[in-house]
Amino acid sequence: EEFAIGLDIGGTKVLAALVSENGEVVSEIQCDTKGGGENFSHQMIFAIESLLEKENIEMNSIKGIGIATAGVINSKKKEILFASNLNLGNFPVGKVLERKFGLPVQLYNDANAAAVGEWLWGNGKGKHNLIYITVSTGIGAGIISNDSLLTGSHDSAGEFGHISINLNGPLCPCGNKGCLENYASGTAIAAIARERLETGEVNPYFSATIDKLTAVDICTAAKMGDSFSIGLLEEVGEYLGLGIINLIHLFNTEAVILGGGVMNESELILPSIRSTVHKHGIQSMVEQVKIEKASLGRYACVVGATGLFFCKVDELAALP
Ligand code: BGC
Ligand code: NA
Ligand code: ZN
Repeated sequence: EEFAIGLDIGGTKVLAALVSENGEVVSEIQCDTKGGGENFSHQMIFAIESLLEKENIEMNSIKGIGIATAGVINSKKKEILFASNLNLGNFPVGKVLERKFGLPVQLYNDANAAAVGEWLWGNGKGKHNLIYITVSTGIGAGIISNDSLLTGSHDSAGEFGHISINLNGPLCPCGNKGCLENYASGTAIAAIARERLETGEVNPYFSATIDKLTAVDICTAAKMGDSFSIGLLEEVGEYLGLGIINLIHLFNTEAVILGGGVMNESELILPSIRSTVHKHGIQSMVEQVKIEKASLGRYACVVGATGLFFCKVDELAALP
């Protein structure tokens, strides 16, 4: 049997996984990301080495390393050009890993890789047009249009989190103002909650102090019936819904598939996303679009990033 190594580099963690040729994760290791170039190389190498050691697998049964990273990339040079959530710029991740392991390396944006994963092996199987959206530390999208991944000129199409929805909004690390991810990412959920609660009364639903609140705390409180948290998550759903209407108008997609850490609690946000999308927008375009949770969960990126090493020629033709 043949395998590939998938690496998912996110704002808070690195996931290294051994993926089989039918897109199954057979083993995994997760480490925290503590940004910064040098450290970063060590963490990635450590994660892969630990995985290989754990599984005791022959190097010649591994076809390559597929990397999915947050941020803008250049897939030909295999470099991460700009990743605000990783504190990285112009980082030659491909070279670092090729030199270390002597295996072929492919580099993708995380959401683009996950879109491919869901399309080939997940909830998007058999669809010709779909958009995958990740709602996590940041927000990203991968667009499958007419059976191929929309790449753009250097494979960074789909920076959905950095479309501006408010010119007078907060300054985003990307340089733009009022980006969608400043209103609806996991980071934003925590930041908005903290800001609103600083001035308000004590909320009995939170065990953490206000300055330590995370999106997970907000979801937990919402499930216990806290109206503040329920309202905030509904608002997040509205912002995502508005963004999704724009995507549907632009790409005339058949399905929107949502993943990322925040979507672990999809039941708190999906209803508001769906009602926003179906209430607004061009009815003949939005009404038939399915809006669903991703089925590969936290494996979508690693499965998608290794897909190219295995998938059949007709599928391969559709990839970059
Ligand atoms: C990055 C994207 C990424 C998304 C999700 C955004 O901040 O710019 O490249 O896809 O976060 O990780
Ligand atoms: Na993307
Ligand atoms: Zn931005």
